[in-house]
Amino acid sequence: MINRRTFARLGAAAIFALGTALPAVAQPVVIKFSHVVAPNTPKGKGADKFKELAEKYTDGAVTVEVYPNSQLYKDKEELEALQLGAVQMLAPSLAKFGPLGVQQFELFDLPFLMGSYDDLRKITDGDIGQKLFGMLEDKGIKGLAFWDNGFKIMSANSPLHEPDDFLGLKMRIQSSKILEAEMQALGAVPQVMAFSEVYQALQTGVVDGTENPPSNMYTQKMNEVQKHATLSNHGYLGYALIVNKDFWDGLDPQVREQLDRAVAEATEYANSIAKEENDKALAAMQAAGTTEFYELTDEERQAWVDALMPVHEEMSGRIGADLIEEAHAALGR
Ligand code: LMR
Repeated sequence: MINRRTFARLGAAAIFALGTALPAVAQPVVIKFSHVVAPNTPKGKGADKFKELAEKYTDGAVTVEVYPNSQLYKDKEELEALQLGAVQMLAPSLAKFGPLGVQQFELFDLPFLMGSYDDLRKITDGDIGQKLFGMLEDKGIKGLAFWDNGFKIMSANSPLHEPDDFLGLKMRIQSSKILEAEMQALGAVPQVMAFSEVYQALQTGVVDGTENPPSNMYTQKMNEVQKHATLSNHGYLGYALIVNKDFWDGLDPQVREQLDRAVAEATEYANSIAKEENDKALAAMQAAGTTEFYELTDEERQAWVDALMPVHEEMSGRIGADLIEEAHAALGR
């Protein structure tokens, strides 16, 4: 009679024999791509496009698992998870690199620095973009591309026409010191909070207002809990598509080449839809009618500019005066 121990031994031998007899079946490489926004946003659609193209171009050698809506990690944790290799790919907002020790990315948060996507390209596609990506390398991270979202609007439950309207309002921000200085310059009280918590914080009055591009505001239903919004376009929110460097460098070179192609095409796609996604989100919120959207008069806008431009000088020590100057030069100012 075969006892349990013998059975176990025989079983192991059989598995071993089988393992040596059959040709090794290559397991697909898995890329976990975690993000914090809804699938129907510029970033969410970009991530899904990357999955589609990566799996196609590698002919199934790579599988991409996309986890939207902070399903796996919130803002700060996702960067730690990337460094630890628990996920392989992210596209965090450029305003969230400070805690990683690469606060130069907060350049993008300077109010009224960029007036258009064309301005943005002059920064991301030039030396500055490459320089910023270079700063990630010794953090174990590789920058692959810049992905667009859009220009931010301010929202609250009271009208925001003049800088004084912000006095004492608790405003949710991303973890950027520039955004903290921006809100303080308006007389508001900035509060850093993970994106996944914003809707509830607005609903329960933990914070009074926030800033975001329309696509984020709409897909998180923030318009249901914000009575007023001002189309200020005072700053930009976009992303860096990043990977764990050891993971990326360790890929088979041919696979990496195929993934580079997927990245390039997904980037082109994401950046081609960003403006339209934001325009559509704004139109949908205007149609929903729960928020009143306000256009600043020229005079009001000038008052915002006057209140916010001192942030550039005030925060130049954090970002680096040279980098700010380089950005102004790239923008032809
Ligand atoms: C936010 O936290 O407001 C945004 O960075 C979310 C995102 O990823 O667009």
